Amino acid sequence: MPRRGKARKGPVRLTPEDLEKMREVGAFACSLLDEIEQMIEPGITTGAIDDLVDARTQKRGAISATLGYPKGSAHPFPKHCCTSVNNVVCHGIPSHNHVLRDGDIINVDVTPKLDGYHGDTSRTFMVGGVDPEVRRLVEDTFESMRRGIAAVKPGGHVGDIGHAIQTFAEGRGHSVVRQFAGHGIGKIFHGPPTISHVGSPGSGEMFVPGMTFTVEPMINMGDWRCQILGDHWTVVTIDRSLSAQFEHTITVTEDGVEILTLPEGRELDLTV
Ligand code: MF3
Ligand code: CO
Ligand code: CO
Repeated sequence: MPRRGKARKGPVRLTPEDLEKMREVGAFACSLLDEIEQMIEPGITTGAIDDLVDARTQKRGAISATLGYPKGSAHPFPKHCCTSVNNVVCHGIPSHNHVLRDGDIINVDVTPKLDGYHGDTSRTFMVGGVDPEVRRLVEDTFESMRRGIAAVKPGGHVGDIGHAIQTFAEGRGHSVVRQFAGHGIGKIFHGPPTISHVGSPGSGEMFVPGMTFTVEPMINMGDWRCQILGDHWTVVTIDRSLSAQFEHTITVTEDGVEILTLPEGRELDLTV
């Protein structure tokens, strides 16, 4: 048996049996976001969103992978999901003191773990009425994720994803966050390969069937650079400009890609 150190491990590749489990947890993750979408309105707190994720996850017999993550850390993440409002790029911590206001945008990122498998997905919601330029940022961020996913096919390369996202987002006048990336996922939450949301076509690892990872572009209205606040988690844009994000967990198939965090019958149109 060759010894393989953690750092040398290849990309997450899943079997058909693993993928059946990933579809199950992925559909559940999607249902969490569907339910959260229904409750988003001015006046609710990000803590109430977290409470819903906690309750539904327990009811399903699942676990919230963000709670206490990463294990053994001095500052483990304290909640069941991430809620990132306005200039928060990612990893916002839900709080009962944070009330959503008309015109806010909020990304909710959930990662339930069921039978040992992870489903990682997020959406950015608009609270009440938002300015046209803010709506444009949110819609362009969704489109950049869609184009990143559409770039995945066997024989292609990881850099094709970043290229598709960067070209679109920058062409629309936004910037792409570089400090955070998509990641291999399965029985582990964050594994290889790293899926940068910027890049050049044909670069990086080659896609092979069963490779399973997230695509989760964070797109800013201003500067792409970020900083982490004193709570050790909350990531904000360096210029405090607005930031949006969407995320799906996907797997490479024989002839393209399958989105695991959408249930059957809710396919995303991937024509470019
Ligand atoms: N769900 C996030 C991702 O997309 C990770 C959150 S880790 C946490 O990778 F600890 F911040 F919750
Ligand atoms: Co996530
Ligand atoms: Co992720």
